[in-house]
Amino acid sequence: MHKTISGFSKLSKSEKIDWIVETHFSNSTNAKSILMQYWNKNDKLQQLHDEFIENTITNYYLPFGVAPNFLINGKTYTIPMAIEESSVVAAASKAAKFWYDRGGFKARVISTTKIGQVHFTYNGSTNDLTLFFNGIKSKFFEDTETITKSMKKRGGGILDIELKNKTKDLKSYYQLHATFETVDAMGANFINSCLEQFASTLKRESEGSLEGDLNVVMSILSNYVPNCLVKAEVSCKVEELTENPNIAPEDFAEKFIQAVKIAEIEPYRAVTHNKGIMNGIDAVVLATGNDFRAVEAGIHAYASKNGKYTSLTHAEVTNGVFKFWMEIPLALGTVGGLTSLHPLVKLALEMLDKPSAKELMQIVAVAGLAQNFGALRSLTTTGIQEGHMKMHLMNILNQFEASSEEKEKLIAHFKTNTVTHSAVVEAIKALR
Ligand code: MEV
Repeated sequence: MHKTISGFSKLSKSEKIDWIVETHFSNSTNAKSILMQYWNKNDKLQQLHDEFIENTITNYYLPFGVAPNFLINGKTYTIPMAIEESSVVAAASKAAKFWYDRGGFKARVISTTKIGQVHFTYNGSTNDLTLFFNGIKSKFFEDTETITKSMKKRGGGILDIELKNKTKDLKSYYQLHATFETVDAMGANFINSCLEQFASTLKRESEGSLEGDLNVVMSILSNYVPNCLVKAEVSCKVEELTENPNIAPEDFAEKFIQAVKIAEIEPYRAVTHNKGIMNGIDAVVLATGNDFRAVEAGIHAYASKNGKYTSLTHAEVTNGVFKFWMEIPLALGTVGGLTSLHPLVKLALEMLDKPSAKELMQIVAVAGLAQNFGALRSLTTTGIQEGHMKMHLMNILNQFEASSEEKEKLIAHFKTNTVTHSAVVEAIKALR
């Protein structure tokens, strides 16, 4: 066990690194050189990254790939994706091309409101509190005018504030439950600033006006956004589901729908099914500088909105037409946050033709649907390992530090041989 350190955040970057490598590594020179190897040579760019968070010592790279040929509402996109999992971008690209030839994806934003809450306790009468709240409601709007001014200009702002009585679930517990429209911003800072002002207004106005004790516990936005919804779908005639020559389109549709139905009723499968959807969603969310933890939390909560965790996607055949769709909540921004700071994020947004938040919601939902289509298509036909291991081959070759020449030979070899970890190891040994 090593000693704790105080004042670490105040050390310079190089002092931090020295402390870390000396404290945690037997070969401190090697550790230091690995950390420094990822520094950007452009000092300004490095400083920008250093300042995103506290105690930055280096950069952590993720591959930034693209999936071309996405036709969404008649417009073609090349979708940027930041992800480490080998087969995700390949699967997205394949699904994009498949649906490009069948009319593309349709996507529609259903709603865009976000939620924030001031959680507080009050030990007096609910009636008094309700009267008091109705009497001061306009003050919440007045007191936040400086915060909401520019958001209002952009067409957003505070939509409503309600008093919610939660005392049946928790003694003395009430909420100010506020709804917001944040237009092209994800809006976390805007919402939290409004909420903290609501809390101050509530406390200030309550003093001397209410008999009971009112105490604010906390003020924070909710990452559950069931009224910030987007729907993505694809459809085609069953007979057009002809990608795999080994399976008749009708059989493919039937098996595919059965796979979706399993995820609808079986939580163990639903979690993995939805994880595959998140492979696509998170990759685009990350590439476009959005908060993937917020998106993950909100989407998984939505997947259990009826009390049981279930599939986010659904599929059916009606009158000979195969339809596959998904409705998900997505709180995204295309202004503010990292979007105007991180050069790669700016580039990703430009690649998408500088979308509005609504357009980005559609793109992200489509990436998720495409990913699920790709996963289910593989799972219900060839199995996923074939594609996965082909993509994983390069990772194994890199683990063994294969040279370019070796890579070329082994990739050729595994075009006709099944990729398993041991088969690759054997083949490398045989070659060497
Ligand atoms: C792997 O990252 C994702 C899948 O497991 C998704 C699924 O099973 O549907 C392939």
